[in-house]
Amino acid sequence: MSHYKIAPSILAADYANFETELKRLEETGVEYVHIDIMDGHFVPNISFGADVVAAMRPHSKLVFDCHLMVSNPENHIDSFARAGADIMTIHAEATVHIHGSLQKIKAAGMKAGVVINPGTPLAAIEHVLNLVDQVLIMTVNPGFGGQAYIPEMADKIAALVQMRQEKGLSFDIEVDGGIDDKTIASAKEAGANVFVAGSYLFKRDLQTGVNALRAVLND
Ligand code: DX5
Ligand code: ZN
Repeated sequence: MSHYKIAPSILAADYANFETELKRLEETGVEYVHIDIMDGHFVPNISFGADVVAAMRPHSKLVFDCHLMVSNPENHIDSFARAGADIMTIHAEATVHIHGSLQKIKAAGMKAGVVINPGTPLAAIEHVLNLVDQVLIMTVNPGFGGQAYIPEMADKIAALVQMRQEKGLSFDIEVDGGIDDKTIASAKEAGANVFVAGSYLFKRDLQTGVNALRAVLND
């Protein structure tokens, strides 16, 4: 099995029909569904919270990859664990307790992810890398779907790959923002292995989009 994973972002789906959207996603053979949680504080936009994730859970066996763009995400660890989140990824910029919060996510039975904005250096997460299952490198500024991929993030991904090797760790590296059938090649070459895609997939026939991304990954 390929170690590459595709994580369609449900932020770009039809919110009135999450059950149908989840079924549609599952049929395309993707591994993850990426669920963007926004609080109108850490980012300007508001999306949905743990109750909506709990409502989705019975309708899908996909890995629920929850990306919390919220301030003080440590306040939501228990509710996301109860909702059935598989991976809970929190922003280093959103809490002064990133180390303890990642420990709590793991203690709650979820996989722990840490994420940094495009302007945040890797040094902000260097000392928690031993705690995480996944590092998410934002390739846009978080808050909205449909923005352009920031190509300079490829250098950050490559530097993270080197850091992972030096530390003898094995976390996944995810990218999020502006991923399409062109930009995915840059992120893949830099060393990412989990690829979030929202508007690219939902603006066309899903299966055609997934196949196009998979073709680049298998190349
Ligand atoms: C951005 C979100 C992304 C978003 C990606 O704040 O974290 O997950 O849904 O959307 P696209 O693929 O359209 O850039
Ligand atoms: Zn996201």
